[in-house]
Amino acid sequence: MAVQKGDLLYAGKAKSVFRTEKEGIYLVEFRDDITAFDGGKKDVLVQKGSLNARVSAFLFGHLEEHGISSHFIGMVDERSMLVRSLAMIPLEVIIRNVAAGSMVRNYPIAEGTPLNPPVLVMDYKDDSRHDPMLNDDLILALKILNATELARVREMALSINRVLVRFFDSLEITLVDFKIEFGKLDDQILLGDEISMDSMRLWDRRTGESLDKDVYRFSKGDVVAVYRRVAEKICQE
Ligand SMILES: Nc1ncnc2c1ncn2[C@@H]1O[C@H](COP(=O)(O)OP(=O)(O)OP(=O)(O)O)[C@@H](O)[C@H]1O
Ligand SMILES: [Mg+2]
Repeated sequence: MAVQKGDLLYAGKAKSVFRTEKEGIYLVEFRDDITAFDGGKKDVLVQKGSLNARVSAFLFGHLEEHGISSHFIGMVDERSMLVRSLAMIPLEVIIRNVAAGSMVRNYPIAEGTPLNPPVLVMDYKDDSRHDPMLNDDLILALKILNATELARVREMALSINRVLVRFFDSLEITLVDFKIEFGKLDDQILLGDEISMDSMRLWDRRTGESLDKDVYRFSKGDVVAVYRRVAEKICQE
């Protein structure tokens, strides 16, 4: 897809968002920067950006086939995707199918405990406040969403989870948990941002091995090699 990369709008910790010559269309570039622990650990891992871009593009396509629309339009190059520009909703929507990570650190539950029904948590996306957890009343009080929109976000998040759990099951991978972001386009709510090894927790069903950013967080091995292996598995489907 030919497109003119315009002004840099925003550079986050892992991606940069650029304007394009087309009104309402942004270019999202997945950089090789990787961070963890609220920015406390930082590195540059060559190829990490393109592997995450490829997986995100694939999963947005897979979701689209299952009736879930997102901001994704197409790839420009191996690390850049064109997206519909959204007014992002400042929420990190987290869906957990198995207890792990902060849930295990913060609450009395053992890692690996299956969560059925899945646990949906929404954090306020604000690094300066360390992304504090919200509840429905807080989301309404802060006017982040109205009640109808909140119900819609929940319903979309759970549908996305159902589709992704089924997909990863077929690869013998457990989708332990993942984080997604939504945005508004006129009066529609769309899935935005990314779905990648940086934003999902994936466990190899047979070996229990981490196939995601936990490899980086806890120095469990060669991050790029793991990302490449899982990207190949996901995208060959
Ligand atoms: N379709 C979209 N339109 C507008 N902004 C988007 C869209 N999709 C994603 N974004 C925003 O682009 C930014 C992507 O950058 P990145 O994920 O690196 O930064 P961040 O989310 O601010 O930081 P971090 O993820 O490291 O906490 C995010 O702020 C995200 O909300
Ligand atoms: Mg982000």
